[in-house]
Amino acid sequence: MQKGLAGLKRTCYCAEPTKADAGKTITLMGWAAKNRDLGGVIFVDLRDRTGVMQVVFNEESGEEVFNLAETIRSEYVIGVSGVIRERDPETYNPNIKTGEIELVAKKLVIYSKSETPPFYIEEDIDTNEQVRLKYRYLDLRRADMQRNIALRHKACFVARDYFNRNGFLEIETPMLIKSTPEGARDYLVPSRVQNGKFYALPQSPQLYKQLLMVAGMDKYFQIARCFRDEDLRADRQPEFTQIDVEMSFVDIDDIISINEGLIAEIFEKTIGVKVETPFPRISYKEAMERFGSDKPDTRFEMELIDMSDVVRGCGFKVFADVVATGGSVRAINVKGGADKLSRRDLDGLVDFVKIYRAKGLAWITIAEGELKSPITKFFTDDEIKAMLERANGEVGDVILFVADKDEIVFDALGNLRLELAQRLNLIDKSKFNFLWVTQFPLLEYDDELKRYVAIHHPFTSPMDEDLDLLDTDPLKVRAKAYDIVLNGCELGGGSIRIYDSELQSKMFSLLGFSKEVAHERFGYLLDAFKYGTPPHGGIAYGLDRLIMLLTGSESIRDVMAFPKVQNASEPMTNAPDVVDPKQLMELGIKVVNIE
Ligand code: AMO
Ligand code: AMP
Repeated sequence: MQKGLAGLKRTCYCAEPTKADAGKTITLMGWAAKNRDLGGVIFVDLRDRTGVMQVVFNEESGEEVFNLAETIRSEYVIGVSGVIRERDPETYNPNIKTGEIELVAKKLVIYSKSETPPFYIEEDIDTNEQVRLKYRYLDLRRADMQRNIALRHKACFVARDYFNRNGFLEIETPMLIKSTPEGARDYLVPSRVQNGKFYALPQSPQLYKQLLMVAGMDKYFQIARCFRDEDLRADRQPEFTQIDVEMSFVDIDDIISINEGLIAEIFEKTIGVKVETPFPRISYKEAMERFGSDKPDTRFEMELIDMSDVVRGCGFKVFADVVATGGSVRAINVKGGADKLSRRDLDGLVDFVKIYRAKGLAWITIAEGELKSPITKFFTDDEIKAMLERANGEVGDVILFVADKDEIVFDALGNLRLELAQRLNLIDKSKFNFLWVTQFPLLEYDDELKRYVAIHHPFTSPMDEDLDLLDTDPLKVRAKAYDIVLNGCELGGGSIRIYDSELQSKMFSLLGFSKEVAHERFGYLLDAFKYGTPPHGGIAYGLDRLIMLLTGSESIRDVMAFPKVQNASEPMTNAPDVVDPKQLMELGIKVVNIE
């Protein structure tokens, strides 16, 4: 039966005492991580959030305490009072912070017992993730998860402090809102009092933060929960957190510089890494041409090489035709790849690029005194020489080519570059390479929707020098949008906004919204813009991604307390679940099965 704290009072955490505390009487509380019963002496590793302390039960503990200690099993919750003493040097444990001391128990309370846990509560277990998430409260007891969650807290704390010092106000925006489009599906919440109407959960606080600028709040931030009904991935959850920022009377440089300060401070204060600012900036165009990606991993080279002019009009029909029809032929040079990529590996790479819709992958291996390749026979000696020169080809290299529309070439080679870097171990994992990618295109054409869609979102401002192109060649218009990329991961993105209701209306009409639809969906924004809107802009970070990279985790699931799995369910509580028919009645909702 429960008995409160049974007369004990915790004096410190398990990993706090040091050798200097020898002789002191302390009281610890926590979980029995390990227990070894050696007959006359029992050792229990007591664990709490800070770490472990070895507790010794022996004749000094007295018979009653000793006998009770014999009943302790893994994960029992206990309180122990006793005296800190230094261990014999030959029993020092260098693996734990308290490895030179131990607690000789004098009092013991068992607060609660535990069934045998379904997996070991240890670091680096290889337990199936579904099981870990079903018993997340046990999984979170493991030291690596505790570290991740604590670091997440610390990063948020540092961010809040940074924003506060720099004059930002933290302002909450509502969760039950009218849909704000960020390109994903909305999660909907039915209204009971207004039958047949729905709120959307925010995909981001985008429109509210802009309205806060109209409201004169000047500098806003929020650590905001966002909801997007999209397919899950290692770096994507249906429910995630943004560090969301908006500022008035700023240009891109102002936003970038305040954010570099934020990132530098978070890195220094959480993991002690000094990052060098300012971060490099490259345009979207350059990112695509050099890395085949708008989120380049710059920790290794192997950049894309444009061969189009070299192979224009050549005898290899595939290449010549692609160039003649406005596509491109590009290559990457796998330095020293000849020894590492077998013929079979190369065939495998052909299949790999097909995932990205490339029709093939041509290769030239430069061996001592000869070239091995299925395509060299189609080229003149001069053309081959020019290709090798362009690629800086040397003996031992393998040059890989894709010919297609630019979009496919970039996608295929960009992904191939990453795949090869992984396989050939080219990535220096100790590096933190930040990069701003700027000058994104404003729009792209969606073949399915048969209309333009905004690449960032519909509130992003075109670049001033491209404004005229809005009428003549919208796809050429560049946006005042920027992404911050870390080690090939899109950490955050933002833009300078449209602040003029006329330009905003024009943007909506380019996106295919009729005046009526634009008014119905965003009328409140257009109205607000009529009452004095400051030029403004902002950014949002994926907090989960930031913590994933700071902790070196493989997935954002490892830095969220209660994440969801592939089918967007939560294994511990089994959400989503059916609800009481009465609840549905009240909401006027009838469920029909759709396949
Ligand atoms: P964006 O849609 O680019 O911009 O989102 C900003 C950042 O949020 C993170 N993110 C996600 N993290 C985990 N799971 C997801 N499903 C997910 N989706 C996005 C990414 C991304 O870079 N309102 C704008 C920002 C602005 O313009 O100020 C926005 O939401 O790290
Ligand atoms: P083929 O003449 O179709 O047998 O192709 C000869 C070589 O060129 C093969 O190694 C193909 O994988 C490669 N290839 C075919 N199409 C492309 C393409 N679009 N881009 C790059 N290589 C290609």
